[in-house]
Amino acid sequence: MIIKILGSAAGGGFPQWNCNCRNCADVRRGVTGLEPRTQSSLAVSIDGRNWTLLNASPDLRQQIAATPELNPASLDPPRSSPIKSVVLTNADVDHVAGLLNLRENQPLFLYADRRVLSALAQNVIFNVLDEEYVARVPIQRDRMFEPAGCPGLGIEAFAVPGKVALYLEDEKAGSDFGTAEGDTIGLKLIDLRTGRFACYVPGCAAVDDALIRRMTGAAVILFDGTLYSDDEMILLGLSQKTGRRMGHISMSGPDGSVAALARLQADRRIFTHINNSNPVLRKSSPEREWVESAGWEVACDGMEVIV
Ligand code: MLT
Ligand code: MN
Ligand code: ZN
Repeated sequence: MIIKILGSAAGGGFPQWNCNCRNCADVRRGVTGLEPRTQSSLAVSIDGRNWTLLNASPDLRQQIAATPELNPASLDPPRSSPIKSVVLTNADVDHVAGLLNLRENQPLFLYADRRVLSALAQNVIFNVLDEEYVARVPIQRDRMFEPAGCPGLGIEAFAVPGKVALYLEDEKAGSDFGTAEGDTIGLKLIDLRTGRFACYVPGCAAVDDALIRRMTGAAVILFDGTLYSDDEMILLGLSQKTGRRMGHISMSGPDGSVAALARLQADRRIFTHINNSNPVLRKSSPEREWVESAGWEVACDGMEVIV
């Protein structure tokens, strides 16, 4: 199985258009040790010819252009694409806005939880994905399916502690803002020839025993790396929100992801969906050193992971 990290940044990307935090300012002026990153998306394939996208970021057009495997090959028909299907893990803007790039009447299968499909159905602009060409298929959690057009790939979705998309938050619904199971899912990506698997969890509010059980034995986990510390956006003067409020566990701290996943058995662990405020984006930072010494890698755009 080949996994390509198309975009490793969280919503807003790195640098973010209206952000002048130290990370964003430094990457803008080309300081060494910081690399720009596009927004959260992966592509996965077993045979290297047929691909499934995992999330469709607002930067998808640029990501496809930067990835030769995702473009029509020289002898392909006048209209064709190696991208055969798309699987969404939630309805966040950074994961669905790129669907608009996939118009042009190209046959595709779009898989998502019913809750996410219903959010798309309520946004008429997504009608550019004509139902005559683009099938919208609800995912049944905890049951493996084989995404259309990608032979040898099995995917199993599972519920993850999280939060409903920001633009769907219901303030009156209480502290969970109307979040329901299925608003955030993780994906187990299985190579059906070998049985080896990876887990992709770009948004996760907390690590519980069910999640550990689910990911045990993975060849690689690609995990929510939004923030290093829960209050980093507040301390940098960027936002009033903690990571908890945004539905994202932080890397550090006693209940952070590094500590919570220390007992997980997995060959490789990689942070992705990294917010521009996160100090691990700076290669020489003590925070980067700390996550790496704990066995974690920090994803960058274009990274290829072989499972
Ligand atoms: C998130 O991951 O929390 C969202 O992408 C935030 C957003 O939509 O801006
Ligand atoms: Mn996001
Ligand atoms: Zn910034």
